Amino acid sequence: PLVTSKELFTKAYANKYAVGAFNVNNMEIIQGIVSAAKTENAPLILQVSAGARKYASPIYLRKLVEAAVEDSNLPIVLHLDHGESFDICKQCIDDGFTSVMIDASHHSFEENISITKKVVEYAHSKGVVVEAELGRLAGVEDDVQVSEKDAIYTNPEQAAEFVQKTGVDSLAIAIGTSHGAYKFKGEPNLDFERLQEIAKLLPNFPLVLHGASTVLPEFLELCNQYGGDIPGAQGVPEEMIRKATQFGVCKVNIDTDLRLAMTAAVRKELFADPKNFDPRKYLAPARTAIEEMVRHKIVNVLGSDNRI
Ligand code: G3H
Ligand code: 13P
Ligand code: NA
Ligand code: ZN
Repeated sequence: PLVTSKELFTKAYANKYAVGAFNVNNMEIIQGIVSAAKTENAPLILQVSAGARKYASPIYLRKLVEAAVEDSNLPIVLHLDHGESFDICKQCIDDGFTSVMIDASHHSFEENISITKKVVEYAHSKGVVVEAELGRLAGVEDDVQVSEKDAIYTNPEQAAEFVQKTGVDSLAIAIGTSHGAYKFKGEPNLDFERLQEIAKLLPNFPLVLHGASTVLPEFLELCNQYGGDIPGAQGVPEEMIRKATQFGVCKVNIDTDLRLAMTAAVRKELFADPKNFDPRKYLAPARTAIEEMVRHKIVNVLGSDNRI
């Protein structure tokens, strides 16, 4: 069934694993992810960004996710990723989403609280859960100075105050991850002391890690081998994601790794058979690449296998 993340997070928190939240844009991506979760008996969050809604149109994505639920019989959350306003959150809630993210993290602390609170009030009246964000992700690198960290990373005391004042159901935090394929220039580094401090002040409360792709080397190599140009990409090491799940992180967001898996497979297929112009013949391998990658994440990184 289509479910909220409430029970999924309670179980994940208690057992120190995380539910994978995967960004979806089309049928093959959804099918690859869902097959993996089905094989591994894993709960699943399928999330849709504003860009995804623009690309596929909201109704196609919604119907594809409905098909995935019906076909797989898995507990699946349909989540809005990075909702930038009350209006887009309301639209998704009215459309049948079971979870929305209001990302007002670029506003002041007080504004973030008031926007988030408004979304929480509406969402909860409809039985929908809300994720919010405190702190900044973009452009963060490992050479960030301590004083800068305090300005952009999530402040633990503020996190506790934010949750208490908004009544939000989960919180995305900034501890050094960032979106995309270029997360670190030098050695990867996350602020685990900060994460532990946040977790201590928010007991039994689910935290969310955005920008959590690991940028698998095998896909980078395939892309670069078959005509791509993605030099110097680096993700969060798997070990760090595993560690984060030990400190209250119950939702791990993954988009970049899906993009890389799909692109690597399509490049490889088209290169291998220049006469192929049947999209099914390069999208089926892309779907399989996604499926295998997601199974690996579920079993070896998130620990969400056999949790249904
Ligand atoms: O947070 C970013 C996600 O990877 C979604 O990306 O806005 O390009 O769809 P997008
Ligand atoms: P990645 O770019 O690391 O996959 O992060 C995705 C994300 O946080 C979506 O909200
Ligand atoms: Na999200
Ligand atoms: Zn994100």
